[in-house]
Amino acid sequence: MIVEDLYYRMLKWFNNNHPDEMHRFIASISENQYHCKEWLVDSLDRVGHMIPRDENHQFKVEIIGGWFGFPLLEMLILRWGSSIKEIDFYEIDPFACKVLTVYLKMWDVDFRNIRIFNEDYFKSHESNTDGLQSDSPVLYEKQFRRAHLIINTSCEHMEDMKVMKKAYEFPERTMLVLQSNDKDDEDDHINCVVDMDELAEQAGIRQLYGDTKVLKSKDKDVLTWWNRFMVMGKWD
Ligand SMILES: C[S@@+](CC[C@H](N)C(=O)[O-])C[C@H]1O[C@@H](n2cnc3c(N)ncnc32)[C@H](O)[C@@H]1O
Repeated sequence: MIVEDLYYRMLKWFNNNHPDEMHRFIASISENQYHCKEWLVDSLDRVGHMIPRDENHQFKVEIIGGWFGFPLLEMLILRWGSSIKEIDFYEIDPFACKVLTVYLKMWDVDFRNIRIFNEDYFKSHESNTDGLQSDSPVLYEKQFRRAHLIINTSCEHMEDMKVMKKAYEFPERTMLVLQSNDKDDEDDHINCVVDMDELAEQAGIRQLYGDTKVLKSKDKDVLTWWNRFMVMGKWD
């Protein structure tokens, strides 16, 4: 079910509970955010037939660095929901996980197979997770993760995705969908790339599809342009 005033309700929640974090909420629903998540969900058509599936023709999704979860989860479930068995959400920031939990409760989405993985968050919110607690809340657990599709739109924020390969049981079957950028003037953009090829190389994947978007934003009346890259592919 989609709640029509969902973002209004999230806005109220931020205002009442975390007014100091309001700027992050605003950033998370920017035009660029919408545009780039829509771009991803639409482009999945290109590789959809190469995502491995289980006996029910469904696939398991892992989202890494998914921030507050919106608007990607909504778009993904609306468009691909019947094909998705479950979603594991790995996010290092405990506050982001808290926001996601609130959002899922407000959304009251039928799709309940979403698990959030963040050790600190679950240590401090054990009584308030409403069934969303993971069995093994460790961000980079080493033993045999299973995912048919890995989505990471935050590659510029973290180490190369090639280090993740060893965490999966059947890494060569898994489809990876990655986004990054060349906007290296932000402190938390620690691993930018210059183009799609570098993003694929950084992840150690064979590129099956790739695309680039030129984006712009305005900060204190200064207009900035940068590139956002997306690659889809598999580990060899
Ligand atoms: C600013 S947000 C999203 C930016 C991205 N450009 C997008 O539009 O989706 C980046 C997220 O990555 C998360 N993150 C950074 N390093 C991470 C890691 N090693 N594992 C999981 N999440 C991580 C941060 O906590 C943050 O929520």
